[in-house]
Amino acid sequence: MNGQTRILVVDDELHMRSALADWLGDEGYDVVTAAGGEEAIRLFGERPADLLLLDLKMPGIDGIETMRRIRTIGSSVPVIIITAYATIETAVAAMKVGAADYLVKPVNPEELSVIVRKLVTHQQVLQENIALRKQLEKSYEFHDLLSKNARMQEIFSLVRSAAQSSATVLIQGESGTGKELVARAIHRASDRAKGPFLAISCGALAESLCESELFGHEKGAFTDAKFLKRGKIELADKGTLFFDEIGDLGPKMQVDLLRFLQTRELQRVGGNEVLRVDVRVVAATNRPLEHMVEEGTFRRDLYYRLNVISVFLPPLRERREDIPLLGDHFLRWFAAHTRKNVERISSAAMGILARYHWPGNVRELENVVERAVVLCGSNLITPEDLPEPLRQPQALVEAGPDATLEAVERAHIERVLAHNGWNIQRSAEILGIDRMTLYRKIRRFNLVRTKPVPG
Ligand SMILES: Nc1ncnc2c1ncn2[C@@H]1O[C@H](COP(=O)(O)OP(=O)(O)OP(=O)(O)O)[C@@H](O)[C@H]1O
Ligand SMILES: [Mg+2]
Repeated sequence: MNGQTRILVVDDELHMRSALADWLGDEGYDVVTAAGGEEAIRLFGERPADLLLLDLKMPGIDGIETMRRIRTIGSSVPVIIITAYATIETAVAAMKVGAADYLVKPVNPEELSVIVRKLVTHQQVLQENIALRKQLEKSYEFHDLLSKNARMQEIFSLVRSAAQSSATVLIQGESGTGKELVARAIHRASDRAKGPFLAISCGALAESLCESELFGHEKGAFTDAKFLKRGKIELADKGTLFFDEIGDLGPKMQVDLLRFLQTRELQRVGGNEVLRVDVRVVAATNRPLEHMVEEGTFRRDLYYRLNVISVFLPPLRERREDIPLLGDHFLRWFAAHTRKNVERISSAAMGILARYHWPGNVRELENVVERAVVLCGSNLITPEDLPEPLRQPQALVEAGPDATLEAVERAHIERVLAHNGWNIQRSAEILGIDRMTLYRKIRRFNLVRTKPVPG
């Protein structure tokens, strides 16, 4: 292990530099030396070290400034400051700004050895933790979809087995819950993965253009048809066709799509040739499709055709355990892509994220983290980096650490009721009060039973 650990020793005094390098070299470390801060920064930029030994007082930029500059290029490498007795206070100050430890001149080789070994071991443990966390995250991952929620895990296995067939899948869920991501996952997990994945946004299609968009047209089929054009369905042959916002499909197209799903055959507009196409259809909607069927705005027969395999994505507020997982995931992604050295979401900020009700679901969380990374002035995201509305108490579904007793009581009663389907007897038992008291509290707090969303 020692052989792989690279230590950069920075001291302007040659004898000190070589003594340190000799001692550490004898212990089996890979040692590089620099005679000043500038040289150290350059060497570090070329190839980062695992540990830094920095003399505090040097001509040019001193040890603390060298450390600061190395930190700004995004490194959290541990630093040992070396100082003379006279400047021991400065060494303490150096620890405050992020040095891991300090040594006082004349340096005692044994003390040096102990401190270095301690830091190297600590560093290795950290690295192992990061590796373990990554491994753990892998088990929560399914083709870019992250979740540790039990219902989502069930969806992953449903999707995994659905992908083996060519059955049509209908994905329902609120806006931003990951419907498109699931559609892509189905494609990538299937043996069609090498074929095309084409998405059609049904809401954006004008009824008049829709037919030729989907089915294509022959040359001369209508005035503007100067060339033969293949439709999306034909182009998706051997692949997957994703009908996004299927609830927005107009009545004529509903008929046309149904016919295609029944026969798997199509004719281009103005053409006679019948084409057989092999596509897997996946549809998604955030509108309550079943409700639309009852209303008569969406064809029942088409609904059944689409709904062979049904996936319901739960809103983020019903899988709060995913908030830290997704929050950290987006943080790492945006930090890497903006090259900002933001390492963590503080526990106060994470607390706010965990309690918010997320009407825009995962997409909203993604946007909030992106904004926070941009605004963040340190390596830590704090509540100040979050949008104002999230920090408002009424944004919290559960009472936070600054809530009144009454708010806590109200939130708790509401939660127990919801959890027990508003069964008063059972809720009262759990709360340890009698039914009449529970009724009084329900009236006092104006609690209402929210109707489950249709579908
Ligand atoms: N489980 C997840 N893991 C990682 N990223 C996710 C997850 N769910 C959603 N996302 C991300 O959140 C954003 C929104 O997801 P997506 O576009 O799939 O939602 P949607 O349900 O199709 O939304 P809409 O109804 O508004 O079209 C995307 O950037 C997506 O990558
Ligand atoms: Mg979408």
